[in-house]
Amino acid sequence: MANGKIKKIAINTGGGDAPGLNAVIRAVTISALNKGWEVVGIRDGYNGLLMPEDYHEGGLIPMTRRTVRGITHLGGTILGTTNKGNPTRYPTMGKDGKMFEKDRSSELVAAFRKNKIDALVALGGDGSLGIANVLAEKGLRVIGVPKTIDNDLEKTVATFGFDTAVSFATECLDRLHSTAEAHRRIMVVELMGRYAGWITLNAGVSGTADAILIPEIPYDIKKVAAAMKALENRKKYFAIIAVAEGAAPKGGGYSVVSKELGRADKLGGAGERLAKELQALTGRECRTVVLGHLLRGGSPTTFDRLLSLRFGSAAVRALEEGYSGVMVALDPPTVRYVPLKEVTSRMKTVPLNCDTILTARSLGICFGD
Ligand code: F6P
Repeated sequence: MANGKIKKIAINTGGGDAPGLNAVIRAVTISALNKGWEVVGIRDGYNGLLMPEDYHEGGLIPMTRRTVRGITHLGGTILGTTNKGNPTRYPTMGKDGKMFEKDRSSELVAAFRKNKIDALVALGGDGSLGIANVLAEKGLRVIGVPKTIDNDLEKTVATFGFDTAVSFATECLDRLHSTAEAHRRIMVVELMGRYAGWITLNAGVSGTADAILIPEIPYDIKKVAAAMKALENRKKYFAIIAVAEGAAPKGGGYSVVSKELGRADKLGGAGERLAKELQALTGRECRTVVLGHLLRGGSPTTFDRLLSLRFGSAAVRALEEGYSGVMVALDPPTVRYVPLKEVTSRMKTVPLNCDTILTARSLGICFGD
């Protein structure tokens, strides 16, 4: 709990964008304005505060009713975001010309104070909420809002953005059936989700995939090949395989595209790796489709819009009630507040005994195990 009257709050969006960010921004802004608070938006994560000189129009955007008009249904974020600007590990050039990671969190807290910002509503996933927690521990009043298409955040039934990503992925899987059947191909569809298989599992089951490969269940390529053979034996000459970008074969590692200073590893290539190996094993034509950032675009679904608006207004209520260092979390029928520390200490992966996996197994979907 934190004391002191709030006069001015800031909103920021960090990490990868997710459908629903703008709806949260609108709900926070209007709810706060209705309390008589001033609201500013920080550009590009924390960059607008850390490097205001880089923004000729200012690093802080004054948020008014007009600023947030007509944005509830829009993807992206009107504030901009970054996944390279972690203030606790900021990529910085050393005197020797070499890059290193610098902790700029105290400098950031000072910038909040200098701008007379009493509290922050931070919209983000595990990385951004970890940063929010550091700022809260340094004395800033902070409320986190769980954003990520990956749905990998603990202590909330859902993150906003996930439902939109799953809905779109399901539609893509639906669309691939006809072309797969027409050409008698095995279509391997790679989906985002980082180290959690939520998107792939939910879209895979809903989009009637024949195999679903997720990070939580290391796969045996021979088992996947056998599942394809079994389909052929049943005179089904095409197949759809949903593979998570973080899926890995038993004893193997994730497919990493690149590692960069100050940001999480970039994943990619899991689909192509699988398709090549499967084609070699089965002699069947395997083609890969990578849905990638398409899952992050578009208008949020009704579920995500409503969740975002609920989260945004709950964040303002939490501040008014004196909370800090907490995240708003969906716990139907309500939204409650959970300590940021509990959210960021571990990732929410798919439990192997969850009902969706049991359903998939009952339906004969192969997990490669
Ligand atoms: O966390 C959201 C997410 O879309 C992941 O599913 C994916 O691995 C990552 O972000 C991609 O990030 P970027 O756009 O920075 O490559």
